[in-house]
Amino acid sequence: MRILLFSGKGGVGKTSLAAATGMRLARLGRRTLVMSVDPAHSVADAFDLGIDLFSQKTADPYPVSDRLDVQEINIQAEIRRYWREISTYVMSVLRTTGLPDLEAEELAILPGMEELCAMMYVNQYARQQRYEAMVLDCAPTAESLRFVSMPTTLDWYMKHIFPVQRRVLKAVRPLANRVSPVELPPDRYFSNILDLSQRLEGVDQLLADPIITSVRLVTNPEKMVLRETQRAFVYFTLHGLTVDRIVVNRVLPSGVGNSFFADWHRSQQQILAEIEEYFAPLPVRRVPLLTREVLGRERLEELARLLYGDEEDPAAVTRTERPYSFAKENGRYVVRLQLPFAGKTEIGLFKKGDELVVQVGTLRRHIGLPSSMTHLAPARARLENKILTVEMKETV
Ligand SMILES: Nc1ncnc2c1ncn2[C@@H]1O[C@H](COP(=O)(O)OP(=O)(O)OP(=O)(O)O)[C@@H](O)[C@H]1O
Ligand SMILES: [Mg+2]
Repeated sequence: MRILLFSGKGGVGKTSLAAATGMRLARLGRRTLVMSVDPAHSVADAFDLGIDLFSQKTADPYPVSDRLDVQEINIQAEIRRYWREISTYVMSVLRTTGLPDLEAEELAILPGMEELCAMMYVNQYARQQRYEAMVLDCAPTAESLRFVSMPTTLDWYMKHIFPVQRRVLKAVRPLANRVSPVELPPDRYFSNILDLSQRLEGVDQLLADPIITSVRLVTNPEKMVLRETQRAFVYFTLHGLTVDRIVVNRVLPSGVGNSFFADWHRSQQQILAEIEEYFAPLPVRRVPLLTREVLGRERLEELARLLYGDEEDPAAVTRTERPYSFAKENGRYVVRLQLPFAGKTEIGLFKKGDELVVQVGTLRRHIGLPSSMTHLAPARARLENKILTVEMKETV
């Protein structure tokens, strides 16, 4: 089973390319799902289905053809279905602050809900072996980054906060119920969190396995977009996901028109060269700017041909390297991370509990250390050939 994640800045062409990829996979005979994780859904539009998926009776995947389903996460319906208990709790807390009751619709705007929910489905379908390929059309970069950090956030919460909070609450509830103005969460609330975490269990391993999950970063040949693509690359890498290719969409074909286009073409070519250099050895694919928007199955097939040629299988595994690795070399313990764009000055490293914390600019990631290294702390680090090598030593 393969999970292909399309991410990139707003409007670069994620949905179109994800949908085109779904078409190709299905044509190659794979049971395929294209799932939209973006609150501003347009997967159904890209396929030109002419229906509103949300008006369907169930949130189940909708069949586009024999082997191709699409699904858009309707967070409001999901919250009504699964998270009534949690919302009850959130509301009871909010009420004590003087805020009026929240409607489920308002709860839906709490950050991360959409991503959390998509993650549950991905895990469920993976367990059921329902699909051979799942193509995830993510929201613009910032939100999709939240998507990939979700399981670790929840995992962290479960490990560090949950047991303590639960113990404390058990002890204080009989007393607090009489005197506290704040309603304490009932046990039901915890069983919901537990249930949630069980639903998510294992999904982080799926995402971190390069044989299963690959990230495809979509960009346009523009400087601003390139910067965001680099940031996204670092972030996915820090979270242990393997980016296996860059897709530059909307490349102006050469030899079109007048000097206006010639200038534009030249500036695009410059940025394309920069992109190739930055991301080497990752393959950088180019997709031309088309004269019409990509709407409906025929146009999606055409886009798939431009992206994959006549033959290529989008699910082929081309990169098996994990973004970070642990090793013991000549008696020394090292952690390696691919960090192609980070300058030395912006990298921070420290140890917290049994985790190595890596900070690159404003991005931070806790990396769980293998048990052979939990008693060690980062002693030295060097950045060479786009790889950060951290040497771990005993603390004195
Ligand atoms: N190569 C292309 N040439 C011309 N039009 C394109 C190309 N790729 C995508 N488009 C069109 O550009 C528009 C935006 O594309 P799309 O919806 O796929 O981007 P997106 O990254 O998913 O946007 P959002 O961040 O808003 O979800 C659509 O109308 C699509 O048909
Ligand atoms: Mg989109």
